[in-house]
Amino acid sequence: MSLRVVVPPHPLIGHSLTLLRDLQTPPAQFATAMAELGRWLTYEALRDWIPHQRVSVQTPLASTEGTLVDGTVDLLAVPILRAGLGLWQGGQTVVPQATVAHMGLRRDEQSAVASVYLDCLPTTIGERVGVLVFDPMLATGGSLLQVLERLQAKGVQVDRLRVITALAAQAGLKHVGERFPQLTIYTACIDPDLDSQYRIVPGLGDAGDRLYGTAPQPQS
Ligand code: PRP
Ligand code: URA
Repeated sequence: MSLRVVVPPHPLIGHSLTLLRDLQTPPAQFATAMAELGRWLTYEALRDWIPHQRVSVQTPLASTEGTLVDGTVDLLAVPILRAGLGLWQGGQTVVPQATVAHMGLRRDEQSAVASVYLDCLPTTIGERVGVLVFDPMLATGGSLLQVLERLQAKGVQVDRLRVITALAAQAGLKHVGERFPQLTIYTACIDPDLDSQYRIVPGLGDAGDRLYGTAPQPQS
């Protein structure tokens, strides 16, 4: 089994990604485009994953067959701060019923090694809970791996997991796939390269800084 990476071929996804990539896009429009991507990718991720059942339904004119989502299955959304909040803003419009557990990670600018500064994962995660991880950018994959390992330590199997990421680098996907070969990831695009500072190329720059209009953060 190898990592399943889904890049939904949809013009609205391409449109939002192109706005994110554009150097000229101001933070407010960047935030809107990031939320739109979160919305469409979440919608796609639920397609073959959210539990549902066939039911019969009586219309005013006749009875027919329909589909209902199984409301007894809980969802846990895990946005990775900061920029994952932008993706989750759109995801939330699709799955407003999800409980949210924030994870805060920050990459060291030289080594690109991420450290955890906030972990709001619940102490226990029920064995039927579906988990959606919102990692804005998958560059080296190091941030995502740390979150997945914490989820795995709480008993979450990969079949109960979906990862939503705006943009993924080939090298990062390889890295994640070696550790979690059965994982499924939804992304708007797979980019070919990482530069010497482990930024995705062509990429879109620093997602967090562009989302919030902040200057690059000094390292402590
Ligand atoms: C960015 C981005 C991802 C991570 C990806 O976070 O938001 O979470 O890097 O890189 P990786 O795959 O190499 O780990 P960053 O540390 O810049 O934090 P921010 O969102 O607060 O800007
Ligand atoms: N994080 C970002 O925000 N951008 C990159 O290119 C890599 C990691």
